[in-house]
Amino acid sequence: MNTNGVPARKALDGIKVLDMTHVQAGPSCTQILAWLGADVIKVELPGRGDITRGQLRDLPDVDSLYFTMLNCNKRSITLNTKTPDGKAIFEKLIAHCDVLVENFGPGVLDRQGFTWERIREINARISYASIKGFGPGTYEDFKAYETVAQAMGGAMSTTGWEDGPPTSTGAQIGDSGSGIHMVAAILAALYQRTHTGRGQRVTVAMQDAVLNLVRVKMRDQQRLTHGPLREYPNATFGDFVPRSGNASGGGQPGAALRCAPGGANDYVYVIVQPQVWAPLATLIGRPELIDDPAWATPEARLSHLDEMFAVVENWTKDHGKHEVLEKLNAIDVPCGPIMSTKDLIEDESLRARGMIADVTHPQRGMFTTVGCPLVLSDTPVEITSSPLLGEHNEEILREIGWTGKDARALQAAGVL
Ligand SMILES: CC(C)(COP(=O)(O)OP(=O)(O)OC[C@H]1O[C@@H](n2cnc3c(N)ncnc32)[C@H](O)[C@@H]1OP(=O)(O)O)[C@@H](O)C(=O)NCCC(=O)NCCS
Repeated sequence: MNTNGVPARKALDGIKVLDMTHVQAGPSCTQILAWLGADVIKVELPGRGDITRGQLRDLPDVDSLYFTMLNCNKRSITLNTKTPDGKAIFEKLIAHCDVLVENFGPGVLDRQGFTWERIREINARISYASIKGFGPGTYEDFKAYETVAQAMGGAMSTTGWEDGPPTSTGAQIGDSGSGIHMVAAILAALYQRTHTGRGQRVTVAMQDAVLNLVRVKMRDQQRLTHGPLREYPNATFGDFVPRSGNASGGGQPGAALRCAPGGANDYVYVIVQPQVWAPLATLIGRPELIDDPAWATPEARLSHLDEMFAVVENWTKDHGKHEVLEKLNAIDVPCGPIMSTKDLIEDESLRARGMIADVTHPQRGMFTTVGCPLVLSDTPVEITSSPLLGEHNEEILREIGWTGKDARALQAAGVL
């Protein structure tokens, strides 16, 4: 039931997604579409499936967590789309679906004869969505993985410490970042179809998605022409935005400060807004700094931020990070304890909201996954297991009205 007492239909009920995605960027997109209620039909290479089923396995002969955590709520059909029967079945799937999503290397579906022209000839209502490493131009023929996109989208040159190498971030902004950008693009195409009756070609380049997320560093690139970036911890500047450690990247200064007992993640990230300086100075036992001209204003503090954060750290280092979280929030200071993956998987509030969720898989039993960050009031997400390879072969062939060779014969011929 929804909040009006009407039986809930999922937001994307009735939308069928032909999911030709693999690894992370594409699957992260189609998993969200499935969570929003679309029927996602994952097409996989017979015998092997999405390469991640067998990568980074923690249990022998069981789909990896890499796969199960990116492919929940989908159905799976195996299909060799390079064979004549495979192509015929694929054409029926195109006719049956509203969206085709793929993230193969450049030109893969074209080489199989499935160009955009051919796809829309089969089904004028379908949108054809592709994630590639790069948009048209210099780099368009190149393959890409997460860290390639981070390197070429500006994230790596601006992450890390000034005297260290370019650094990648653990957040998968190239892969899952592109996936979520693609969700937005697909929803826009589906909405527009309600007016035009036509699908459209939808593309997201991983380099562009990362660049979009590095927007504030491009802001700073232009500010640099007018002088040094005073809020940065760096002493000197060249003609590009330097790596700036844990500086906040925004208009309010921030830093990660040590907490007790001093373990790898015993830190809290603290942001000092102008209005919290007085209560913060009082809390840390330095009330004399409230009116001291060297400390009283944000402008005065800007020239010695390191010293300011050292003063605050002199207090945080004697308190646990969760105690610091409570004490600072009590005086309205924005802050966040550094949460390890262990902290997160055990966090009760994340579990209560389904952002950390336990799912039962037919082979591996229970596994834990990260839930859906998009929350719709009337249609909560229900997370179900990822499919086994080819689990839905016969049911999907029936649904699309396939009347050719039966599943067993197709399997024997290497088509299914
Ligand atoms: C991720 C990536 C680098 C992997 O490269 P790869 O392992 O060499 O795989 P490709 O996508 O290039 O090629 C897949 C091959 O499998 C084949 N294949 C996959 N599924 C198939 C199916 N169901 N039936 C028949 N053939 C299939 C393709 O036809 C292709 O073969 P071809 O090169 O002979 O045409 C590449 O797919 C890529 O750059 N993708 C776009 C960017 C992206 O999404 N990257 C992030 C991934 S998380």
